[in-house]
Amino acid sequence: LLVLSCVLTYVFLYYQNVRRYPKGPLPLPLIGNLYHMNAETLHEDLHLMGKKYGHCFTVFMPRPIVIFTDYSTVKEALITQGEHYGGRSHLVPDTLLQKFVQTGILISDGEVWREQRRVSLRIFRELGMGKNIMEAQVNRSIDELLVQLKATNDGVSAYDINFPLQLCVGNVINETLFGYHFKYSDSATFRFFVDITVKHLRMIKDNLSVMIIQAWPWAKHLPIIGTIGYKEPKANIGKYQAFIEEEVNKAAKSYDRNH
Ligand SMILES: *[C@@H]1O[C@H](CO)[C@@H](O)[C@H](O)[C@H]1NC(C)=O
Ligand SMILES: *[C@@H]1O[C@H](CO)[C@@H](O)[C@H](O)[C@H]1NC(C)=O
Ligand SMILES: *[C@@H]1O[C@H](CO)[C@@H](O)[C@H](O)[C@H]1NC(C)=O
Repeated sequence: LLVLSCVLTYVFLYYQNVRRYPKGPLPLPLIGNLYHMNAETLHEDLHLMGKKYGHCFTVFMPRPIVIFTDYSTVKEALITQGEHYGGRSHLVPDTLLQKFVQTGILISDGEVWREQRRVSLRIFRELGMGKNIMEAQVNRSIDELLVQLKATNDGVSAYDINFPLQLCVGNVINETLFGYHFKYSDSATFRFFVDITVKHLRMIKDNLSVMIIQAWPWAKHLPIIGTIGYKEPKANIGKYQAFIEEEVNKAAKSYDRNH
């Protein structure tokens, strides 16, 4: 009887809580809306739900996520009321990308974010953002791309330019940040890191363990769920962070304050 009343209370509180959010498809206790969501067609499903619920609704994955599906609601949230919607979740999977809490510019918020943004913009301007030196950097990357396209295909057969393009864009960023770029013939390091990123996305995308930890952060300490949803992706992306740290340290050593 005790168990039953606990369950009923839980269910009651669950739906009390659900009522606080914009109305959407019916969630079930614990699993939320996971029971009818299909990862393959998610974008289309959400679009249809938007039509039904007035372009603003909640899905429980199982953590509540409020979705906007048309231009004017998105614009109102992100531009008109940007201040209110500028917060970050501080949850997995976002925080997997942070080596330390509230760092970086993508997933920090509030004062920290503002400060980071200000400093980053200033540094990027010093490095030539919006000026000719950056244009020259972009040109060098494109030259590299062209050399490589000429060298690796006969101009007749179909050719996958996915990787060459990635390398080209990545090289612009690397030139700016670290002052060097990767030649196509010497892009093993680059590939290694692209693979880490791709692997990361594969690990966190539509992954139940990740969603569970997102809904109940303490779950990262559980066996299996914690390993799949937290420890493994963290270790994977950690290799990337270690590389950046190494590069930054190298650059810091050769940095001339009086320059
Ligand atoms: C970059 O390339 C474009 C196209 O070839 C050229 O017009 C431009 O002057 C180049 N810019 C620099 C800074 O080299
Ligand atoms: C810069 O090079 C590193 C190492 O190869 C690579 O992981 C990274 O993706 C490059 N930067 C960008 C922004 O692509
Ligand atoms: C979650 O990730 C793990 C490890 O990356 C994988 O083995 C598992 O199949 C994934 N589960 C789902 C539902 O995608």
